[in-house]
Amino acid sequence: MAEKILIVDDDPNALRLIGYALQRQGYEIVAAQNGQDAIDKALNEKTKPDLIVLDLMMPEMDGYEVLRRLRANPTMSRVPVILFTAKAQVDDKITGFEAGADDYLTKPVTPAELIARVKALLLRASYTAPERPQAQVIGFLGVKGGAGTTSIALNVAVALAQKEKRVILVECQPYLGTLARQMGLRPRSTLASLGQMKADAIDQASVESCITKHHTGVRVIPAPLKPKATTQPIMPGHAQALINHLNNLAQIVILDLGSQLTPTVRQLLGHCDNVIYVTEADDIALEMTKMLLQEGENLGVRTDALLKIIVVNRIRTAVALTRPDTEDKLEQELLAFIPPAPELFRQGERDGHPAILVQPDGLHANMFRQVADALLDL
Ligand SMILES: Nc1ncnc2c1ncn2[C@@H]1O[C@H](COP(=O)(O)OP(=O)(O)OP(=O)(O)O)[C@@H](O)[C@H]1O
Ligand SMILES: [Mg+2]
Repeated sequence: MAEKILIVDDDPNALRLIGYALQRQGYEIVAAQNGQDAIDKALNEKTKPDLIVLDLMMPEMDGYEVLRRLRANPTMSRVPVILFTAKAQVDDKITGFEAGADDYLTKPVTPAELIARVKALLLRASYTAPERPQAQVIGFLGVKGGAGTTSIALNVAVALAQKEKRVILVECQPYLGTLARQMGLRPRSTLASLGQMKADAIDQASVESCITKHHTGVRVIPAPLKPKATTQPIMPGHAQALINHLNNLAQIVILDLGSQLTPTVRQLLGHCDNVIYVTEADDIALEMTKMLLQEGENLGVRTDALLKIIVVNRIRTAVALTRPDTEDKLEQELLAFIPPAPELFRQGERDGHPAILVQPDGLHANMFRQVADALLDL
């Protein structure tokens, strides 16, 4: 959904010009020609803006008065407001800021400056707006490549969607993604679409356009499937913008972080409420898991994040450690201990179905549902 901007000006030409410049940037425009109309539109759920560009000099009710009345209303107390006027006196600016303005533009203004200020204010508002519902962000981090991270993240995401949760699953890799294939999807767009944008140009609409919907209800942003990114991979700035918008689009955001601790992955780790380490039941993998748990903060993991471990045994072998052995070595209880089921997973991948759908009443499906329940309780 595009962000809405309310433009208030008694001059229809100014309304048209500013409206056109902002519309071209992908914003939805709501126009008002007087103060009362502006207040009505700002307080109406259907036209409620994300930002207001407000002319100061208007007959009947001037911009200062509009601003004071808006600020007095809790739903409009924090919306960014740019005052827009021919007045250039210092006193006018001070009165404007005292009335609750966030920024000030003096006419005539160039569209480029207007757009830059609008973007900056919207971006800042998206970081700080406290009244927005925050999604639960769960990161799955592979202790090593091929540990089963994507499989776990995917099956848990489906289990959560089956519990009527609005889930978005993002495969955070620069290239060689497997998620789309594992889901039987042919995505029109991948994470690479965001990589080719400037980070500060990423808005809700650009994030939404990368999402592919799966028949289970899980919405996914898969990594590019090609072996080499044709565009820039996403950088920490992109990751920040992505998370901000995902927060508005889902109740639960699942990040398949892979096993490479790139600066982007570290940035994303800092947004995770829960970090699930996916590892194997062998001595080396467990040693690495312990190290990652200890180093958490240095990797960008939040101090208040809840850390859990899932052990995946992909191969049937008599020398694999048992669950109690594993828990002893890690000195921690596991969130799950997944037994090997190569046929199940192979069949799922062949048909493009997550394992939980291949055998919905099987042992693995139950385990994924239990993990989903445990995550909802965290
Ligand atoms: N419990 C299991 N038993 C058997 N095979 C499994 C199991 N879980 C996952 N697999 C298989 O292991 C392989 C690797 O899994 P997956 O792609 O999920 O790992 P990954 O850690 O995401 O890998 P990458 O490092 O490439 O991103 C896949 O072929 C998957 O089907
Ligand atoms: Mg993977």
